[in-house]
This record gives sequence, structure tokens and C-alpha cells, in this order.
Amino acid sequence: MNYITFNSIQTKKMGRKIAQEILKRPLDKKAIVIGLIGDLGGGKTTFLQGFAKGLRIKNKILSPTFVLMKKFKIRENSHSNSYKFATFYHLDCYRIKKPKEILGIGFEEIIKNPHNIVVIEWADRIKKILPKESLIIRFKFINQNTRKILFNP
Ligand SMILES: Nc1ncnc2c1ncn2[C@@H]1O[C@H](COP(=O)(O)OP(=O)(O)OP(=O)(O)O)[C@@H](O)[C@H]1O
Ligand SMILES: [Mg+2]
Repeated sequence: MNYITFNSIQTKKMGRKIAQEILKRPLDKKAIVIGLIGDLGGGKTTFLQGFAKGLRIKNKILSPTFVLMKKFKIRENSHSNSYKFATFYHLDCYRIKKPKEILGIGFEEIIKNPHNIVVIEWADRIKKILPKESLIIRFKFINQNTRKILFNP
């Protein structure tokens, strides 16, 4: 599936919708992992700002320039009593040189836990250790305000 957005608000809205869909999913055996790939300034972090909103996370989502990973608590869904997703992890692999660096911060444990939602910017840099069933979203810079967003390209 391909989409075009014409401003950052539309990209944020798309992120929010995807998060809301994910919250409806039944619990899996492992974490939900989404890999964001594509151009610098393509809108990966912008998408994640909407995504976090969809998870009802109040914290600001920033480009974790010097931080490899940020962890956020997902508030319980008021519409259901069933406990599903507890923690959202935002990883940015832009600066990593070897997938091994990610293993050093407990990546394998994080992606094992079905209560986690893990979104990884520059996921193509850790292809080797990315779960095969991850959803991949590619961001293409078309022009100043236009982006193409491709799901499982
Ligand atoms: N349609 C659009 N969708 C998303 N962002 C847009 C759009 N139009 C303009 N922008 C702007 O483009 C920039 C996208 O930056 P963002 O940090 O989200 O990209 P990124 O893919 O995370 O980059 P990086 O690879 O550096 O992490 C923002 O300043 C945003 O306001
Ligand atoms: Mg970014």
C-alpha cells in the first residue's frame, strides 16, 4: 500500500491511525515491531509523533539524536480492562555501525515481550536482527511538503 501526504499533520494522523489499529490487535506471542526506513527528513519521527499520540503517550517524541533508545509507558485503555500493551520503545539506528550495538541494550529481550510495541527508525541498519514479521514503512521525500509512505514495500 502506498500513500502520499502533503504536510506533516497528515503524516502524524497516519501514525495515529496505525497506532489505534495496533491497540485493537489481540496479544501476540512477541512484541509488535515496526521498522521505519527511508530518506533523511522523510518524516519517520513526524510519523512517530502521531503514533505516540495514538498510544495516548503524552511525552514529546524527539529525534533521539544521541540516544539510541527511548522508553515510554503506555497508559491503559479506558475502553477495555484487559491489559495488553505496556511499553513503547522508540529506537533510532541512524548512528549505529553494527547491529551488535543494539543487542548490547537488551534488544532481544525487548522484542520477545508481547506487551511491548517497538518502532525503529533506520531499521535497515539492523536488518540482520530485525524479526522477519516486522511491519516495514518506507518514507520517500518527494518535495518540501510531500512525502510518499509505503507499507511493506
Ligand atoms: N508530508 C510531510 N510528512 C512529514 N514531514 C513533513 C511533511 N512535509 C514537511 N515535513 C517536514 O519534514 C521534516 C521531517 O522530519 P523528520 O524528523 O520527521 O524526518 P525523519 O525521517 O525522522 O528524519 P531523520 O532521518 O533525520 O531521522 C519535518 O520538519 C516536517 O515538518
Ligand atoms: Mg528521525
